[in-house]
Order: sequence, then structure tokens, then C-alpha cells
Amino acid sequence: MSEDSKKQAASRRGFLSGAAVLVGGTAVAWGLEGCAGDAGGGGAKPGTTPHAKPKGHVEPGQMDDYYGFFSGGQSGEIRILGVPSMRELKRIPVFNRDSTTGYGATDWTKELLGGTMSGDTHHVHLSYTDGTYDGRYVYVNDKASARLARIGLKTMETDAIVSIPNSQGTHGIFPQRHKTGLVVCNSEFRIPQPNVGADMDDPSKYAGMHTAVDGETMEVVWQVMVHGNLDLAATDYEGKYSFATCYNSEGAVTLEGMMAADQDWVYVFNLAAIAAAVKAGKTLTVGGFDKVVDGRGNGGDNELVQRVPVPKSPHGINVSPDGKYAIASGKLSPTCSVIDISKLADVFAGKIKPRDAVVAEPEVGLGPLHTAFDGRGNAYTSIFIDSVMTKWNIDKAIAQFGGEDVDPIIEKIDVHYQVGHTNASMSETKEADGKWLLALCKFSKDRFLPVGPLRAENDQLIDMSGDKLELVHDGASAPEPHDAVIVLRDKIHPEKVQTRTDPRFKIYEKWAKEDGINIMKDNKVIRKGNKVRVWMTSQAPNYGMTEVRVKAGDEVQWLVTNIDNVEDLSHGLCVVQHDVIMLVNAQDTNSITFKVPNKGVFWYYCPWFCHALHLEMRGRMIVE
Ligand code: CUA
Repeated sequence: MSEDSKKQAASRRGFLSGAAVLVGGTAVAWGLEGCAGDAGGGGAKPGTTPHAKPKGHVEPGQMDDYYGFFSGGQSGEIRILGVPSMRELKRIPVFNRDSTTGYGATDWTKELLGGTMSGDTHHVHLSYTDGTYDGRYVYVNDKASARLARIGLKTMETDAIVSIPNSQGTHGIFPQRHKTGLVVCNSEFRIPQPNVGADMDDPSKYAGMHTAVDGETMEVVWQVMVHGNLDLAATDYEGKYSFATCYNSEGAVTLEGMMAADQDWVYVFNLAAIAAAVKAGKTLTVGGFDKVVDGRGNGGDNELVQRVPVPKSPHGINVSPDGKYAIASGKLSPTCSVIDISKLADVFAGKIKPRDAVVAEPEVGLGPLHTAFDGRGNAYTSIFIDSVMTKWNIDKAIAQFGGEDVDPIIEKIDVHYQVGHTNASMSETKEADGKWLLALCKFSKDRFLPVGPLRAENDQLIDMSGDKLELVHDGASAPEPHDAVIVLRDKIHPEKVQTRTDPRFKIYEKWAKEDGINIMKDNKVIRKGNKVRVWMTSQAPNYGMTEVRVKAGDEVQWLVTNIDNVEDLSHGLCVVQHDVIMLVNAQDTNSITFKVPNKGVFWYYCPWFCHALHLEMRGRMIVE
């Protein structure tokens, strides 16, 4: 054991005994003074201040200071939580079928999903202007089917989904930060290019893709083909570079093979050079997409791409809020590699070697995965195997790497258990404020009531504002948030009722014009052959029609418009026995299409509790 790791082990034991007071009960929450935003609280002994509110407590009627946007992982959704209360406020269906809203069954969302009804969201990032969130969009990946989705922040609904060509395992994504520009997307899995049956047994010919999607039009702009697998992604603050970690430089197809080499890469993409190559027509057509540039030239390091060597199997890549450093977390190496972004121009110019851009490599613990920032020069790395968060100082790490006898490690705090992602309030922006730190733990084990073989994850909240890190909240969450961002509430301005400006309203208006309908007023059944369009309004506690007559064998498209102009007054439509259920918010229109095979009387009702006479808000679909 090295002197360093002995020191670390000793300090870890210190934290463990300190943590014993807190583990296993409400002491965690109730022993601490101060409310949300009160950074100066704490200090009271557990049990001595029975009426004190825990840090992070938000009183009834009070609002959280931050929105937390969490990926829902295998649920295919995004979740919005208030931070610091960690109260779940909303689930936004993105790649999944959702019975609450009808997402995946309504006409518009069926078209968005294109028949793929499941997904795996990992990385949620908001659109940027000038280095901070501009409150317009959320982007999220689907690792399962190589897609990128966008959610409009006015309504917090999915408004676009794009399929990424020539890619499998689309994992890391990151928007540019100087403006709402490109969103880069990494393919984690190398595949034959094109993947049409050739080279299947020769993995040396497989390749990965670094893809740019236009964050405004949601169209694929270009792809760079590289040898390596591309895991997590990041962008700089100036629009010059994007980054990807590569843990499988070996190009292996088995676990042993992927772990073989002691050194892997951080890929650096030169965005101006790539754009110039595309403009100059130096492109290939792969799998039907004609804007692929080949980044494999000169062994893999060239004018488009440079690879910075880092220790074994890096995972996360995060850029510090001052825009100076890209930090790769080591995963199989107990280190973080700090890349000085200002040196990359010289790397691309061939003046220095790629490795010369690494200016620090502090030892942070076993299994470092991701790194967050406080805006005060410190980094916070999630350490999976040790189950700790390590706080370390970037400048001290650089000094240590330069030969000075300084210890960059400031503190380690236990988390429970096996932390994966981490993020901090505004950490991914130039306005990182160092208030709240999240540890998204992959296992909860004994932290919550047992609920069968599948347990909740444990999203823990840490107060990072003081000299000592303080665990203030255990947040049970359904599997499995992979990542989250914490956004100052002032950055987000949602609408209170539907403003009817989203792209889908153009489609409803087109149909209304075809049928000569005033959407906000008319209640009519329009028949064309065996296709029937039902136009219906809703206003608590009434539908515009209490009887709709159709014929057995018809295909019915039912549009409901909620003409209530009242905040928080949602209606919906459920047609019993027909697998039809959807949400219609105030001033919204929604539509769903279904077959009516059998004669009979079928009630339709409003599934949303909207009025004292909500139960009476129903009518009969009479199938003749
Ligand atoms: Cu409308 Cu219940």
C-alpha cells in the first residue's frame, strides 16, 4: 500500500465512524438545522433540536430553489424533481408508452416514436446560450435505439426525436455551450460501417461515430467515423471542441479484451476542422447518410481528431465551469486526468504531443466515474467501488502533478451505495454555485423499506456549501436515473396553460381545415368512408357531445380540445374496452386513432378529476 493510499484508507475509516451517527435513521435529516438555502445551518447534535427543520427541507407552500432534471434510465422517461426537497414533480414520457398521458398511443406521439416503444435515457442536458442554461430545451439520449429527443421547456413535453444513423449504444451526449448549436452524440458500440452484413466477424474493421445534431432543427449535421468506442461526451465553452472517453481502445468484443490495455483515450474533436471538411465535400456516404467524415486517418490522430492517452478505461468527461479543463474520470484507474483545453490548439498544430495536454492526474479513489464542480475551483468525483464522493482541488492537483508536495484531496464523504453519476447545482454551466451535490447511487440495499427483489435506487443530496460536506437526504427513485442536472429555477419559465405553438398544432389545424372545423368550438362527427373523425370539446364537467354514433368496422380518430382556460385543469378521454386513454391539458388538443370492431354501447369518460361532477363527465359511443 502506498503512503498515499494508507492515508486515504485511514481518513476513510474516520469518515465511516463519523457516519455511524447518521446511518440508519432520521438522524440524517433531523439532526441538522437550517432550511433550504440556509448554508450556515448545522452544528446541532442529533436529538437536541426537535423542532429544527433539516437542511433541504422545503416548507409546505414554499418552492424549491432548483429544478432537477433526471433521466429515468430504462423507464425511457425524464423526471423533474424539486431540489433540495427532492420531491418528484413530473415525469415526462420520452421513449416510453405512458398510460397517464397517452404518450405513445396518441397520433402525434406515435409518429414521434415511429413504432419503437421502449428506450433507455441516460444523459439529460439543457440548451445553452453564452455558457449557461437558456431555458428553451432539454435533450436526452436513447441508448437502446440510438436516438436523441428534445423536450420543449415551455410545456415540458417531448417535441422532437431523431434517429442517429450508423450508431449503436448512443450514450454520451452534450450540447454546445456558447449557443444553442450542435448536440454531439457518442456511439458506445463499434459496428461494421455500414452495418449490412459485411465484416461481421472482423471487429478490427468496426468503427464508432461521433454525431452532431442541430439543436434547433433536430437534423443530423455530420458524423465523424473513428476507430474507437465513444462513451461519455462533453463540449467546451467556446464551441471549438467536443470530447469523448474511449474505454475500449483495444477494439475488443469481450470484457477481458476491453480491459486488456493499461491505457485508453480521451478523443478530442476539432469542430471547425470537421465543419470545413464537410463543407469541402470530403465526405463519405455510409448507411445512406452522406455527411460522414473519416477521422481514422494517420492511425487515428489527425486534423479532425486527436486522442489524448489516459489510464485504463476512463468513463465520465466533465468540463470545469471556468472552461479551462476537461476532466476524465478513470473508472479502472483510481485517477482523474485533467486536460488543459488551452493546450489543445498546439496538439492539433502538432507542436506538442496529445499527452502533453494532461496537466494533472490526482488519485481520487477506486472506481472514479463522474466529476462535478462548485465554481470555487474544486471538483467532486463519484467513486463507485469505494462508495464515496471525493472533493479535490484542481489547482492543487496541477501543482502536485508539477512536482510540488501538496495533497489535492480535501475530503471524502460516504454515500450509500455504489455511486454512479454525480452532479451539482449549475455545475455544467459557468454559473456553478456550489450549493447542492447529488450522488446517484446504484444500490440502496438497506436504506429503504424492502419492496421485493427490485429495489429503489438511492439519489442522495449533499450540502456542499460549507467547509464540510453534509449528507442531507436519501431520495428513493424508481430505476434508474443515470444522470441529472440541477438548474436554478429562475432559468425556467414554463407556460401555465397550453399555448398551442408546438409543432403538433399545425397538424391539428390542417385536419380542421380539411373538415371545415373550428377546433375551439365545434363538436362534430365527420365521416369519410369507414374513417370517422370525432371533433369534441371539453369544459368541466362537460364534453361537447354526450353521444357519438359510429359503425362497427370504422377507424375512429378522436380529437378532444380542452377549452377550459384555467391553470391545472386537465381533462382527458378514455373510451372503455378500446385501449384508449389520453390527457388533454387546459387549452390543449390531443388526438388518438383506434378501431371499433364490435357493435354495442361503450362509455367514454374523463379520466382526470376535474370537477365535483367529474364522474358524470361521460358519454356513450354507440357502435351500430
Ligand atoms: Cu374532466 Cu374529469
